[in-house]
Amino acid sequence: MSENKLTAELISFINEWKNKQGNLIMVLHKVQEHFGYIPREIAFEVADLLDVPVAKIYGVVTFYHLFKLTKPGRNQISVCMGTACYLKGGEDIILDLERQLGVGLNAVTPDGEFSMEAVRCIGCCGLAPVMTVNGEVFGSVKTAQLKTILAKFRGK
Ligand code: FES
Repeated sequence: MSENKLTAELISFINEWKNKQGNLIMVLHKVQEHFGYIPREIAFEVADLLDVPVAKIYGVVTFYHLFKLTKPGRNQISVCMGTACYLKGGEDIILDLERQLGVGLNAVTPDGEFSMEAVRCIGCCGLAPVMTVNGEVFGSVKTAQLKTILAKFRGK
């Protein structure tokens, strides 16, 4: 049986938004905030409650890149690949992290600890190259620091 269930809070949020414009995006944001992604079984429940076809939900989820369909790692690493960060070595950071984590972009480490994605400019180009872990920003990152950064989050 699935561990993913709509909570009472999510159900009341969905009911509150049911007849409002833009409800699908609002509900999907809330679902992702809760689960870290959009679990398949929840997409079906949301479709029922909002009375929309599941295909419409998947259309929205795949159109907007901010929605995830797979469960991310417990710690989510985002490496900026905007122009400034790219020019200052963003790609080296990704390559080194891939080597240290043993998985590529958009994959989860076998222990579920980390997942990594490349993102567009996050608005602090002066600190390039930039990466975030669970939203915490690390600027002027050197590959030599990556081990320490990972250790800060691993197993915590
Ligand atoms: S390009 Fe990386 S923060 Fe702007």
